[in-house]
Amino acid sequence: MKRVKAIYPGSFDPPTNGHLDLIERGSKIFDELIVAILRNPEKDPLFSVNERRQMLEAMTAGFDNVSVDTFNGLTVDYALRMEAQAILRGIRAISDYEYELQMALMNRKLQPGLETVFMMPAEKYSYLSSRLVREVAQLGGTIACLVPELVAQKVREKIDIANKFNAGDVGSRAADERTAKMRERRAVNKKKN
Ligand code: PNS
Repeated sequence: MKRVKAIYPGSFDPPTNGHLDLIERGSKIFDELIVAILRNPEKDPLFSVNERRQMLEAMTAGFDNVSVDTFNGLTVDYALRMEAQAILRGIRAISDYEYELQMALMNRKLQPGLETVFMMPAEKYSYLSSRLVREVAQLGGTIACLVPELVAQKVREKIDIANKFNAGDVGSRAADERTAKMRERRAVNKKKN
């Protein structure tokens, strides 16, 4: 019997409960599913590719037919290298459809033998995106129900590090201001003397 292998490509910065929901659904209809993280040097991600890989590996440890990998270049080329027959993508709302359709048709043009399969995550995740998770966390909101606990912890660690770094920056700005004031005072004193 023919076995169907699919790749699930994406940025996963960070992986969310919506991604996990889709992975679970995909693992039920495909014999093998590879979660493929795009190594995109042009983006400025919150998490390194390795960190994302570790999080996804931990999240998918319970699925026998799911593995995690990274790739660069064209998704269709990667799919071909992996001998996959399908690309899995999630559609949350009608607003996703236009972009996803464009991408699916371009991928079909590039590689006609490869099918894109769209699946819908649970409705409760229809508003959820990695970008919003990053934004909510950066602005101090809770992301507890949006990502698995292990991801929430990593996001909090990242944000804490970034905040400390920014606090250091504020400190050095204050130091620069103090130095400038000292110089001003010296200049005034020089004039007086
Ligand atoms: O999670 P994302 O950011 O929506 O995933 C987008 C992704 C990685 C699937 C898409 O950008 C992609 O396939 N990039 C690889 C380069 C490529 O194949 N481009 C042509 C797509 S039509």
